[in-house]
Amino acid sequence: MISNDRHLIGLLGTPVKHSKSPIMHNSLFEKYGLKYEYIAFNVAEGDLASAVEGLRALNFAGANVTVPHKVAIIPYLDAISPKAAKIGAVNTIVNKDGRLIGYNTDGDGYLTSLLEETNYKLADKRVLLLGAGGAARAIACAISEQKIASLTILNRDIKKAERLQSKIACNISAEIAIIDKIQEYIGAVDLIINTTTVGMSPGIDKSLVPQQLIRSDQMVSDIIYNPLVTRLLQDANEQGATTHSGLGMFVYQAALAFQKWTGIYPDTDFMRETVLAALVDSEGD
Ligand code: ATR
Repeated sequence: MISNDRHLIGLLGTPVKHSKSPIMHNSLFEKYGLKYEYIAFNVAEGDLASAVEGLRALNFAGANVTVPHKVAIIPYLDAISPKAAKIGAVNTIVNKDGRLIGYNTDGDGYLTSLLEETNYKLADKRVLLLGAGGAARAIACAISEQKIASLTILNRDIKKAERLQSKIACNISAEIAIIDKIQEYIGAVDLIINTTTVGMSPGIDKSLVPQQLIRSDQMVSDIIYNPLVTRLLQDANEQGATTHSGLGMFVYQAALAFQKWTGIYPDTDFMRETVLAALVDSEGD
């Protein structure tokens, strides 16, 4: 039973069953003695508007937004930060005196993770981004500010890639193509980033990248954290490439969201340990 004096934080997405956000944030609230509660809600695409009204009616203190709602949620909010506006996607909501304000912490979370865990220098690198959803928008914006040499975006739905290319207000200049053409593009890049959900639990045997196309001098980054080592990363490791998993982005985007709700920048090592333990606990789930 939740007592009335708790601040509620929701997660809106589908699927959310395997998300480790609730356990990560609730462990942090407990660690810092904060009267908050984080609850995941499975929200189907057609139910997003009423879910946001639900947040208002129940006076939620905030929320996270995940697949597939990060772009679609914007019209239902009262305002969005300049960064979220530039990206055109929201992953964090803060209720400020009854007004729902949208933010985006995905791009900064990704950059912090890549830099801290691999020390990779993005300057002058040729980047291949797989996917054109909300996470792809944030990462495309964040890496475009790092003086990369080129950006190619491949997506299953080419219209979505076109929207990414033309609609986001940050300064990206990208070539786009359909994902089936990966063979034509992958040879000429230094860094491959998977932002799609392909390979995510429970579909863990899937990858969009044929293994033999991955070279040992490439860096392969996957934003999926469940499983920690996706099929793509496993294939890349076997090819001798350097790899970067999605756990760090998950932790850092959450740390920045936590700070927006509570004013505290949390202990990211503790967060990482909590998620790792939860992933072990749910193995075979
Ligand atoms: P997020 O907000 O986390 O980025 P999203 O907006 O739902 O989530 O985006 C999911 C991404 O995974 C999209 O690029 C999607 O491709 P489409 O735009 O063509 O739908 C991609 N994706 C999901 N399932 C896929 C599949 N089976 N094959 C290829 N791409 C897939």
